Amino acid sequence: MGFWEMKAALEWQIAMGADEAIAEEAIDRYALETPVAKAKAAAGPDTPISQQIDAVAAAQAAADSASDLAGLEAAVAAFEHCELKQGARQLVFADGQAQARVMIIGEAPGRDEDMQGKPFVGRAGQLLDLMFRQIGLSRDAPDAGAALYITNVLPWRPPQNRDPEPAEMAMMMPFLHRHIALVDPDIIVAMGNHACEALLGRKGITRLRGAWSEAVGKPVLPMFHPAYLLRSPSAKRDAWADLLSLQARLREKS
Ligand code: URA
Repeated sequence: MGFWEMKAALEWQIAMGADEAIAEEAIDRYALETPVAKAKAAAGPDTPISQQIDAVAAAQAAADSASDLAGLEAAVAAFEHCELKQGARQLVFADGQAQARVMIIGEAPGRDEDMQGKPFVGRAGQLLDLMFRQIGLSRDAPDAGAALYITNVLPWRPPQNRDPEPAEMAMMMPFLHRHIALVDPDIIVAMGNHACEALLGRKGITRLRGAWSEAVGKPVLPMFHPAYLLRSPSAKRDAWADLLSLQARLREKS
């Protein structure tokens, strides 16, 4: 291949979203043999995925068997039915303090989270930390009243940060529900549309934000996702109102 062909090939890769080279030979992780790929191959291309393998039931059984957070993390790590795992560098399970009164649920890891193995550590995460610090909450605080616990609907980075697919959210929901039950927070903050869809079965964050709701027996406060606030700084005003509402609710409940 000559220089111009190689340059064109590289430009094509960049246009397709490749943002770094990690090995001499590229691995197509989506083509690797996974339980889902094997089931698809065995059942034939026309069989609906729901009939090929009941990933949701498998997730439910795995989640039910976890009696603590370490067990749940191990169960998620061992779960082979979600194809996102194939493309991700590592599992992003949670960060913060398990005794926290407030549990934040985001969407899915991005590039920085995938590299560091912790949720909300990139630019959006830095804004999230700054926002919650304004009302005295942080992921590092040892005291339950000042602490945060942070996780996502999906524990693996979707390729090129695409939106989660309904099937991916559905199969990871049993783990999320078990996660909430084990942390047992006083309040859940649903960050952005996908967290609202997963927890409340509703989308439309512009209408939902700031309106207290309930899911899995817990009060839920939908808020704008910090990545959205980075793109639309004028919405920070609403986010501040929501933080004050959260602070008031925590004081009420203490
Ligand atoms: N966005 C999310 O929703 N979660 C993360 O962990 C990072 C960015």
